[in-house]
Amino acid sequence: MTRPRVLSGIQPTGPGAHLGNYLGAVRNWAVMQDENDCFFFIANLHSLTVTPDPAFLRERTRGALAELLAMGLDPARSTVFAQSHVHEHPELAWVLGCLTGFGEASRMTQFKDKGGGSVGFFFYPVLQAADILMYQADAVPVGEDQRQHLELTRDLAQRFNSRYGETFTVPAAYAQRPAARIKDLQEPSRKMSKSIGGNGTIWVLDEPTVLVKKVKSAVTDTGREVRAADDKPGVTNLLTILSTATGKEVTELEKTYDGKGYGDFKADVADALVEMFAPVRERYAELVADPSYLDTVLAEGAAKARAVAVTTMSTVRERIGLLAPQ
Ligand code: TRP
Repeated sequence: MTRPRVLSGIQPTGPGAHLGNYLGAVRNWAVMQDENDCFFFIANLHSLTVTPDPAFLRERTRGALAELLAMGLDPARSTVFAQSHVHEHPELAWVLGCLTGFGEASRMTQFKDKGGGSVGFFFYPVLQAADILMYQADAVPVGEDQRQHLELTRDLAQRFNSRYGETFTVPAAYAQRPAARIKDLQEPSRKMSKSIGGNGTIWVLDEPTVLVKKVKSAVTDTGREVRAADDKPGVTNLLTILSTATGKEVTELEKTYDGKGYGDFKADVADALVEMFAPVRERYAELVADPSYLDTVLAEGAAKARAVAVTTMSTVRERIGLLAPQ
C-alpha cells in the first residue's frame, strides 16, 4: 500500500522557530512521518520576498534545518530539502502563474493585508502552489492563515487538469486534531508570531532562564482562578500551552489548580516548557556544530525531491506544448 504523501514548508527567515510553530505544526509533522510519505522543505525562495541579508539567509537556512531536525523531522524517513535546490519550483510557478487570474491573486488576504509590495510578494501564493503540486501531495498540514493559499492551489490543480488532462493530485488540507493555536504571551489576542518577538514570543531555543522569565511575565487576567474562558485570554493561552505540552486535558488542569493562584500555575507552565525543549536544545547544539552533516542532509533531500520534480515537470512541459530540446 502506498502511503499518502504529505508536504509542508517553512520559511527560514525570522529569528527561528517559536512555541507556536512547534506545538501547532512541527511536532505534529514529526508524528506524521510514521504513516505518511512526507516532504518537508525550507522555503528560502519565499523568504526572498523580504529581501533578507544574504549571509543571514544562508545561515538561517542551515539553522532552520537544524531546528527542524532537532524538533523531530527525520531525514531517514522523510524527504527534507531546501526549495532553492530544486530548480523546477520557479519553473512550475511560472506555468501556474499563467493560469492564475490577476484578480484571483489580488484577492489573497496575505497580499491584501500588506497593502502592496513586490511582484514576488504578489506571486508568493503561486510559488506555494507549485511547491505543493510538484510532489503530487495528497495532504498539506497548514495553519488557518495558509488555508486560502491551499484553496488557490486546489483551484489551479483542477484548472490545469481540466485544460491539459489529469496531471496533478488535488491536495486536501491535512485533517489534524484542531491544532493548538498559541497566542502571544504579552498580547494574548494575537497569534504568537516571529515578527512580534519580544517577551510574548517563546523561541524553541530560549535558554531555560529566559523561558521562565517570559512565562512569569506573561499577561494574566483579572481574578485569580486558573480557568479557560473568553474573558481570560491570557490564562486560557497558558492552559492551552500546558495542555498541549503535557497531553493533559484543560478541564483536568483546571481541577489541579483549583484554589491555587497564578504563581503555582505559571511555575508549572515554565517547568513543562523547559523540560519539553531541553532535548531539542541539546540536539540543535550538536547539529549546528556539524554543518557538513547538515549539508549532506540537504544534498540527499534535494536528490530525492528532484527525482519527483523532474518527472512532474517533464509531464507538464509535454502537456502544455513546450518543445523538448533534442
Ligand atoms: N507560506 C508558508 C508559510 O509561510 C510556507 C510555505 C511555502 C508552504 N510553500 C509551502 C507551506 C507549501 C505549505 C506548503 O507558512
